[in-house]
Amino acid sequence: MKKTALITGACINTGVAIVEKFANEGWDVIFTGRDEEKVRQAETAYRTKFPTVNITGFAIDSLIDERTVDEKSVDELFKSLDRMGVFVNTLVLNAANQGLNMEIFKSPLTDLMKVINTNVVWNYCLCEHAAARMKEKGGGSIVFLNSNTAYRAIPDRIAYVTSKGGQLGLMRALALDLGKYNIRVNAVLPGMIRTERWKTNPDFYKTVPSRYTPIGDVADGADIADAVYYFAAHARNTTGAELVVDGGNTIQLYPIIPE
Ligand SMILES: NC(=O)c1ccc[n+]([C@@H]2O[C@H](COP(=O)([O-])OP(=O)(O)OC[C@H]3O[C@@H](n4cnc5c(N)ncnc54)[C@H](OP(=O)(O)O)[C@@H]3O)[C@@H](O)[C@H]2O)c1
Repeated sequence: MKKTALITGACINTGVAIVEKFANEGWDVIFTGRDEEKVRQAETAYRTKFPTVNITGFAIDSLIDERTVDEKSVDELFKSLDRMGVFVNTLVLNAANQGLNMEIFKSPLTDLMKVINTNVVWNYCLCEHAAARMKEKGGGSIVFLNSNTAYRAIPDRIAYVTSKGGQLGLMRALALDLGKYNIRVNAVLPGMIRTERWKTNPDFYKTVPSRYTPIGDVADGADIADAVYYFAAHARNTTGAELVVDGGNTIQLYPIIPE
């Protein structure tokens, strides 16, 4: 029987590469974005590219307002999937608030709350609903798109770095508590990923610190999608694990800067 992956934040960038990986492997796909029109556009593009795969998009935002997670819409999403007869074998938590340009002395507390609420609390809600169904069906898999910033901080990203650290704790705690239901929970930790954002700033790549790695390059979305798929499809005896995909960036004491 065909398996289904639910991939959050998959109208753009890395999420697209993850959808395409699962679709190429013959899985059915549910994906989310926040904007209804963009979700429908992405759905049409996916269905055209993968005519034999069932691909359905849902517009869903993590927050009701700056302080409140939209738990109800997560409940409604999973009830819709129940009505469609869709069981999510693998949940991929890709969507994230990037929490850019946050400064401790300038940013309001709600900036921090929005990032933590999306990257940790909302993901917890999604895990809760997906895992309840996986438990009933005899197992499943959850994969977090984390970040190597969970290990090493970067400037002006206080909320993001905090959220990714918290997310790793959540991943381990869920792996521990859900193992008895044959639900595996793991995390992929990218360094920098080449995304559409780079096209608007081509010089950025030449100076980005994450390029100065033993590999000498940053990841493409497909590199990250491969790691996600490994946890979903191949890692039968692996749970609570962290797979760093950063060209070796975080193993260095100092970056190797070419002459
Ligand atoms: N890019 C990197 O260099 C890098 C490095 C390390 C880790 N990562 C991690 O890898 C994952 C993908 O990165 P990316 O750069 O491809 O992400 P991205 O381009 O920023 O896309 C993030 C996705 O998250 C969704 N999203 C943002 N805020 C949301 C909210 N409040 N509620 C629901 N969805 C929301 C966006 O939805 P919309 O489409 O509606 O805007 C978008 O689809 C993220 O978890 C990120 O933290 C990325």
